[in-house]
Amino acid sequence: MSFRIGLVPGDGIGVEVVAAARPLLDRLLPGAELLERQLGFGRWQRDGVAFDQEDLDLLAGCDAILLGAVGSPSGPAPGYASPVVALRRHLGLFATVRPARLPEAGVDLVVLRETSEGLYSGLEHSDGERAECRRVVTRAGCERFLRFCRGWVESRGRRRVTLVHKANVLRETCGLFRQVALEVFAGAAFAVDEMLVDSAAYRLARDPRAFDVIVTTNLFGDILSDLAAAFAGGLGLAASASLGVDQALFEPVHGSAPDIAGRGLANPLATFRALEFLLERLERPREAAALGAALDRVLVAGPATPDRGGRATTAEVGAAVLAAIEDIEVESISVPVTPRNLIHGEEE
Ligand code: NAI
Ligand code: MG
Repeated sequence: MSFRIGLVPGDGIGVEVVAAARPLLDRLLPGAELLERQLGFGRWQRDGVAFDQEDLDLLAGCDAILLGAVGSPSGPAPGYASPVVALRRHLGLFATVRPARLPEAGVDLVVLRETSEGLYSGLEHSDGERAECRRVVTRAGCERFLRFCRGWVESRGRRRVTLVHKANVLRETCGLFRQVALEVFAGAAFAVDEMLVDSAAYRLARDPRAFDVIVTTNLFGDILSDLAAAFAGGLGLAASASLGVDQALFEPVHGSAPDIAGRGLANPLATFRALEFLLERLERPREAAALGAALDRVLVAGPATPDRGGRATTAEVGAAVLAAIEDIEVESISVPVTPRNLIHGEEE
């Protein structure tokens, strides 16, 4: 079977890390059709739009998407809308899985983040004097996400879920999320505790080893997963899978990094880890395991980009990972019985 893979390099270092991932894709998914689309701020500056409907439809027809990073301006940009948020919505990606794992530091936690509702609902407006954003939480949206969480946690034998919210203040929106979570998690094979988001941030900063799986809403998950990444080798290593029923998008957690863009300094390992998740999703466990082992090897033995204390370029790290894959011999690898961190969509 030949796969259709959507490639969205985006802006800044997104372009560099996706370029570095291409040879790995060619090696691990030979014959896959790679459909590359330019979406993002650069496109907006050039064409006045960051993406169009045709892009969304083409990407919706892919088996999986690999995205680099999109640079979104924080200042005024009339007519600009983030393609990442639009893609999540168009593809129905409602759950995001962000592992933060650094075995030598004892850190092995996962943030499961709801990504279709909450404060990123897009219902925001301003008349210049008063700006307003609506935080929408629905029972149906919570159920869909929390059922996915339950299946994900149980199928991986994880032991404890920490439900993160702010239901003491956001009594209705967080209150509903919390209520549905307690219902959906009742009788689960894992322990459940809960924490207010501010306290969770504090405790995470104090001791990331104390966490197993964090389950939370959109904005809180966005923030806490970046924080968690800081304890697992930094943004240069953190990868993310955004899952829907039929579609899935894989990306590094980092952004377009304008401070280092265009100089070959970007660490491509986060994107390669995202590619590992993509291979798992496409049920290529052998290839995923080979890539995972190659990444672990390069992480320990180098070469490393400057963010990890080395002097290697993006391309040199890419070449080392490719060489490690050849060395490992993908075809001879035995498929692990319990995949390390298998990333799948709907479990039920
Ligand atoms: P950022 O993640 O781009 O960079 C933060 C810091 O980490 C920078 O110092 C950068 O050099 C470093 N860094 C990030 N990734 C790295 C890598 N692979 N290798 C080495 N160093 C790395 O966050 P920032 O600067 O806040 O945002 C820049 C732009 O990216 C903004 O326009 C933002 O909207 C966008 N962004 C896009 C995301 C996406 O497309 N999913 C996610 C986060 C931010
Ligand atoms: Mg983020």
